[in-house]
Amino acid sequence: MTTEVLRTIARKVESLPTLPTVAIKVIETALDERASARDVAEIITTDQALASKLLKVVNSPSMGLRHEVSDISQAIVLLGFQVLKSLVLSVSVFPESFDTGGNRGLRKPGYWRHCLGAGAAARALAVQRRYPNPEEAYIGGLLHDLGKVVLDQHVSQHYTKVLELQREADEAPREVEYSVLHTDHAEVGGWVAQRWNLPKCIQRVLKYHHSALDSAELSSQDRVLVALVSAADFICWTQGLGSVQAKRPPALSTSVQEIIDFDKIDAPKVMNAVDEEIRNTAALFNFKVPDVGSYRDALQRANLELGRINSLYHQVKRQLEGQVKIISSMNEFIRTVHKGLRPDEVVDTALQVARSHLGFDRAIYLSVDHKRKMVVVEKALPEEYGSSDEAAKISIGDDGGGLSRCVYEQLTMNLTTKDERDRTFLDLFASPEMAVAPLVATKQTHGIIAVDNNLSGREITETFLHSLRMLAHEAGMALDNAILYERTRQQAITDELTKLYNRRHVMSILDMEIKKAQRYKRPLSVVMMDIDRFKGFNDNYGHQSGDTVLGQVGALLRAATRRTDIVGRYGGEEFLMILPETPAENAGIFAEKLRKLIESFGIRLSGSYPKCSLSASLGVASVLPDDEVDSLISRADKALYQAKEEGRNKVKVLH
Ligand SMILES: [Fe+2]
Ligand SMILES: [Fe+2]
Repeated sequence: MTTEVLRTIARKVESLPTLPTVAIKVIETALDERASARDVAEIITTDQALASKLLKVVNSPSMGLRHEVSDISQAIVLLGFQVLKSLVLSVSVFPESFDTGGNRGLRKPGYWRHCLGAGAAARALAVQRRYPNPEEAYIGGLLHDLGKVVLDQHVSQHYTKVLELQREADEAPREVEYSVLHTDHAEVGGWVAQRWNLPKCIQRVLKYHHSALDSAELSSQDRVLVALVSAADFICWTQGLGSVQAKRPPALSTSVQEIIDFDKIDAPKVMNAVDEEIRNTAALFNFKVPDVGSYRDALQRANLELGRINSLYHQVKRQLEGQVKIISSMNEFIRTVHKGLRPDEVVDTALQVARSHLGFDRAIYLSVDHKRKMVVVEKALPEEYGSSDEAAKISIGDDGGGLSRCVYEQLTMNLTTKDERDRTFLDLFASPEMAVAPLVATKQTHGIIAVDNNLSGREITETFLHSLRMLAHEAGMALDNAILYERTRQQAITDELTKLYNRRHVMSILDMEIKKAQRYKRPLSVVMMDIDRFKGFNDNYGHQSGDTVLGQVGALLRAATRRTDIVGRYGGEEFLMILPETPAENAGIFAEKLRKLIESFGIRLSGSYPKCSLSASLGVASVLPDDEVDSLISRADKALYQAKEEGRNKVKVLH
């Protein structure tokens, strides 16, 4: 339908008769600063139809003239040049019958009052701003809404709908025109002005008076002229002098405000000009312009509406600012969280953002133990508001409650005490309302983030839930990467057969530990262990069995060492243990323990491998003040060599 409307409008505009030559001449003369009232009178007298129309208006009872006026020159004397100009323009340009009356169609008195007001205001502004030709501003203001008349005349049914909607709609009047017609009065006015060959500067006023003034078609002088008319139009609306009845006045584009400094306008002067124009000219037409009372009434209503819109604006602005803040913090979060290379870094960042940027009072991370069907509290911010250790585990039922849906259906849920199924979870944190979001990594729910406003009691709104969902989604992806990275890193430093650190890694740790021990003057020892006659074992039972035994030795060593000790596979059947904070003597005792351990392991193995009794030789060395990796290792090696020399299955310590 809308394209149909557009086509109709275009067709009608195309078939509009061109403006009578006399009207164009009047406009051109009015724009010519040097032209006098006599020039205008001359033009009018060349067109008998126009002259008689004018005289009819001048002699109408509403003018209250005592004597009949019979020629144009006399009319000019009685009416004044400005009034005559407006009159001629209106008679030439506007159709006689566009006041459809009732509640339908464009209301002529209000519309005409708006145009006169805009013309006068634009001229007053032009004078104040020292615009070279204030008459251009006047005529621009007078004709700026011509498109409305065309719409009213030619697609009256649709335009009536527009007018009805404008009375109720929260959108700006021009947006309503667009939604119904797919065009607006400025565009239509621009077409008509072009078709009528109106002066170029006036064409641009009609076309651009509601636009941002950035079109390349506009010269810098055009921009000022259009801005003057737009500002005049806006001022009329704010004074209750709109062209149509609209719930919302048109918005003033920021580009107009860049050109017209509203703070510097002499507003009383502009308003006086508007009042005078309306008073003087209105009398010429055979319709009544609404009186001052209704004008004030309209103004008050406009003010009330303005106040309402203003508060609405601030409310919307606040909401938008809040959302912009959330979006920008999400951006920041996305940048930061993906930098996290360790899973705990990712979780930390997510919890911090949930509190500091999304504004939740508390943020908790719970890991999911799928085997035991439990969630376990891992971290809470702020820490003192976490849960006590004993109670920090909660079973997840398949009960379709919020927690269960979060873990198994991977949904962000709002949990409240209204749902019995989530009560245990909420009780654990002593909270009446919590939101939970899944961190999905490696396709399963790795953990959940739980947030609440337990201190402020603020409600968790849909907007917050949405933000939390985004946060958890991003954190899940980052966690996925971090887990993958961690796995790759582990593979790079682990010996596959024994699951101990590989040689490269154990050596780089040794380098660090030596420096640390020397700097803080702390003891540090290393134990080098070699399995005795392992080549013989491999020869007898094959490499596969040899590998199995090495794996078992690896497990034994891991179990026998402290958490702070570092165990690595140094070579084929050679192992290196780094023992921080351990002097040589204690390291010797430890090495002896290991020796016995391997010995008894060998005895256990002898059932399966009777030809070989497994044992190990161990060399111990402690760090010296100027030691480096090579010197320390070489002493441990030497000790090991001595142990072998002395018959194997022995510990040798080199101080
Ligand atoms: Fe307009
Ligand atoms: Fe307007």
